[in-house]
Amino acid sequence: MGKLKGKVAVVTGAGSGIGRASAKLLAKEGAKVVLAEFNEATMYEVMDEINSDGGIAVAIKTDVSKEADCEAMVKKALDEYGKLDILANVAGITDKMTSIENYSNELLEQVMAVNVMGPFFASRAAVRVFKEQETGGTIVNIASVAGTFGARGGTGYTMAKHAVIGLTKNIAAFYGRNNGKIRANAIAPGSILTNITPKDTSSLDEIGMAAFTDLGPFNRGVPEDIAAAVLFLASDDSKFVNGEVLTVDSAWTVR
Ligand SMILES: NC(=O)c1ccc[n+]([C@@H]2O[C@H](COP(=O)([O-])OP(=O)(O)OC[C@H]3O[C@@H](n4cnc5c(N)ncnc54)[C@H](O)[C@@H]3O)[C@@H](O)[C@H]2O)c1
Repeated sequence: MGKLKGKVAVVTGAGSGIGRASAKLLAKEGAKVVLAEFNEATMYEVMDEINSDGGIAVAIKTDVSKEADCEAMVKKALDEYGKLDILANVAGITDKMTSIENYSNELLEQVMAVNVMGPFFASRAAVRVFKEQETGGTIVNIASVAGTFGARGGTGYTMAKHAVIGLTKNIAAFYGRNNGKIRANAIAPGSILTNITPKDTSSLDEIGMAAFTDLGPFNRGVPEDIAAAVLFLASDDSKFVNGEVLTVDSAWTVR
């Protein structure tokens, strides 16, 4: 308890799955949290849960694919709490394993807008704040094993998650020299039971699913498994970790 006492965090995609579990854990550990989420109903539900559980959270409706929304969520942290220490870029969408031959321009634009431009807009706004703060700040990006391997998502999702890892490494390399005052790390989750997982696989892309199925059986995690990694990378426990990709997949990709 209290690993993040006095810290201020923005968590995107905080209404569901990994974002929800992460926001709740960061708040439990003492962070004041700004919940940035597209779905207002789930966003306020999480806000109420945190506040009635003794934590501190505010919420702001955010579409991370919009630059102005990302700027506004960072401003919300500054307006409410006077600073920003932690940005967790969690919001993301899937592409149902769509293979390149079936990939529309619209789907690619949508996946890149949320999964790449979102973390880019948010990270840029955060780094500009971190630079002005004596204490700097840290970014935790939720990538995926689709960001390090080829058959864990469709074409656009795989491209997007590789890009998120590039974003992470570039920020760490450019801003990490000052003894880690500014840090950026990524998490590559394996398969986690959340709302992103398609309930009905019958309409999924055949080629994509065949490649995925070839990978064989794997373990499924819960959002809290990833939230624990977010806490580690957000806290000073990882103060010498910068520019890393932490795979949390219960040995799925090690085989
Ligand atoms: N679940 C998995 O197996 C898995 C594996 C690897 C990586 N991930 C990544 O984890 C992250 C979280 O996914 P999840 O599994 O918790 O899914 P989820 O669908 O349960 O949660 C995603 C949340 O992001 C929100 N969101 C979607 N688009 C948004 C937007 N434009 N602006 C703001 N919020 C938006 C949704 O409303 C939802 O609350 C994603 O980046 C996903 O790619 C998930």
